[in-house]
Amino acid sequence: MIKEQKEHIKIYFCDACCCGDPRFAQTRAPLKQLLDSFVDRLKLSGTLLLCDIYTTGCMGPCSVGNNVVVKKGAKKFAFNKMNHLENMVALGDFVDGWAQGNPTDPSGDLASHVMSFKQS
Ligand code: FES
Repeated sequence: MIKEQKEHIKIYFCDACCCGDPRFAQTRAPLKQLLDSFVDRLKLSGTLLLCDIYTTGCMGPCSVGNNVVVKKGAKKFAFNKMNHLENMVALGDFVDGWAQGNPTDPSGDLASHVMSFKQS
């Protein structure tokens, strides 16, 4: 019997401002603290095993960092100003929905962090 492998959700965090440009230093977020909080949140719900989490280099929009991209298959969302622990709770709730097969659009406060770009 072949076991079906679930597609992982890929989550990319930039480290504002990893580019080192002093203009964006004020947007630098406590990335380790945010990542630890996010991972703990996903561990609690059991979703962590369905996720691949990466830190990236600069994604470009440094002035609205910290930026996070969530991608599953062809669907993806980019979030800006993800600088606070409460943002990680909301992001965890959103990722849980995707992991449980309910790929809804972001809602509540998280919706205000969505950056738009063309979906492929
Ligand atoms: S460092 Fe995050 S977009 Fe530039």
